[in-house]
Amino acid sequence: MTDKCKLTTSAGAPWVSNETSETAGARGPVLMQDYQLIEKLAHQNRERIPERTVHAKGWGAQGTFTVTHDITRYSCAKLFSEIGKQTEVLSRWSTVAGEAGAADAERDVRGFSLKFYTEDGNWDMVGNNTPVFFVRDAYKFPDFIHTQKRHPRTNMRSPEAMFDFWGRSPECVHQVTILMSDRGIPKNPAHMNGYGSHTYSMWNAAGERFWVKFHFRTMQGHAHYTNAEAGALIGKTRESYQEDLFGMIEAGNYPKWRFMIQVMPEKEAETLAFNPFDLTKVWSHKEYPLIEVGILEMNRNPDNYFQMVENAAYSPSNKVPGIGYSPDKMLQARVFSYADAHRYRLGTHYEALPANAPKCPVHHYHKDGAMRFFPQQTGHPDAYYSPNQYEEAAVADPAAQEPPLRIDGNADRYVQEDADADYIQPRALYLEVMNDAERDRLHHNMAEAMASCSTPVTERWLSVLNRVHPDYAAGVRKALQG
Ligand code: HEM
Repeated sequence: MTDKCKLTTSAGAPWVSNETSETAGARGPVLMQDYQLIEKLAHQNRERIPERTVHAKGWGAQGTFTVTHDITRYSCAKLFSEIGKQTEVLSRWSTVAGEAGAADAERDVRGFSLKFYTEDGNWDMVGNNTPVFFVRDAYKFPDFIHTQKRHPRTNMRSPEAMFDFWGRSPECVHQVTILMSDRGIPKNPAHMNGYGSHTYSMWNAAGERFWVKFHFRTMQGHAHYTNAEAGALIGKTRESYQEDLFGMIEAGNYPKWRFMIQVMPEKEAETLAFNPFDLTKVWSHKEYPLIEVGILEMNRNPDNYFQMVENAAYSPSNKVPGIGYSPDKMLQARVFSYADAHRYRLGTHYEALPANAPKCPVHHYHKDGAMRFFPQQTGHPDAYYSPNQYEEAAVADPAAQEPPLRIDGNADRYVQEDADADYIQPRALYLEVMNDAERDRLHHNMAEAMASCSTPVTERWLSVLNRVHPDYAAGVRKALQG
């Protein structure tokens, strides 16, 4: 027993047994002084942290982003500074509604989160596998999520609540159409696209701002399960995504995505007929063609899932110079919400955890609290406040100055004026993108999802579909009739 790794207490002292309690006599009770046993049981009691309120079930990997095309005319972000430049990335994909133990192959939107550890700090791209979202105002987000989670009395999920909410929020019909289409159950994250969904912005070295959309296009091709296939699969395994992804990466078969952007000059947004900051709408690819940026390759399974994936804390507020927000009101709310969730779920200094710690120097004046396991980060031991007299202490960096974001208008609560605008894009998706077989599966998937809904809720939702196209409503009605 010379070279074997030896057990110690968590304070580092060698420990004599991991199987036998210290007792008073061979048959006697355990002694209080067997503190290592108490320590072991106490640790077990603290092995769980609150699960994410949404996107609780997830799968993650580590990898690399490599720049293949020059976009410095749009962004001065250092991660894009030259072709061939590589940046480490931590990904986490997720379902939205299910709890941490939910089956992987469920019909749901998938989260698509990427943390780029750039030399200028972390850039988090916290998107979904859909280019749009259900609602466009953050007031509606908690209620929407409540309809996706369990009913307070039955403790079951409630299609009645989901379709009641959707029928009264017709802006969601675009996203619900995608959710009920083939894309609603990807085979695993390697076979789906990722989207920033919101409009973000980029600015270049000359201080010009552009509005942008982020796209990560799967290089494995799209692949999906039907409801029946997913049902059969879940009967065999609830962890199909984890098995597929972990297995692919262990086998050296690394999934890849092509990172592309759509770009709109800042001024153009003012003259458009549509609101480019409305998260329920996409931008035409004809008018705003995809521009290649680079390749994302996920090529490493984390050694410890909890450390790197459960502890991962993504936030749209994590941006780097050269990448910015937009006036999208949902995005503005998300900029607040995520860090607040992390302080609750993980603790005050969650950004010092290995999954979240930037891989560049960090200097801030935040002080103590849970997880204060980093040394003074201000540049000088006496500089625990700012401004201060110490030459070496951290000072604000004017180079990080963002060009001014032009904002204008009266403070008010605005609703979309054009009530028809929400139906145009789902209509094009239904009529022009889907073929007959896809439309048929959409009708049946939706009918299956709403089979238990009451007549008023069903009729209200069918009237929303009717505004998209009468064939859509008729197709779902027919499927409901069996
Ligand atoms: C997770 C809030 C909209 C994508 C979360 C979490 C919160 C949250 C609190 C849990 C964070 C945690 O505990 O770690 C909100 C709010 C929204 C919103 C308030 C609207 C106002 C969206 C949208 C998208 C999105 C539009 C995609 C475009 C995600 C993803 C995660 C997540 C991918 C999981 C992150 C991870 O992998 O850890 N959201 N969300 N959310 N959200 Fe949102």
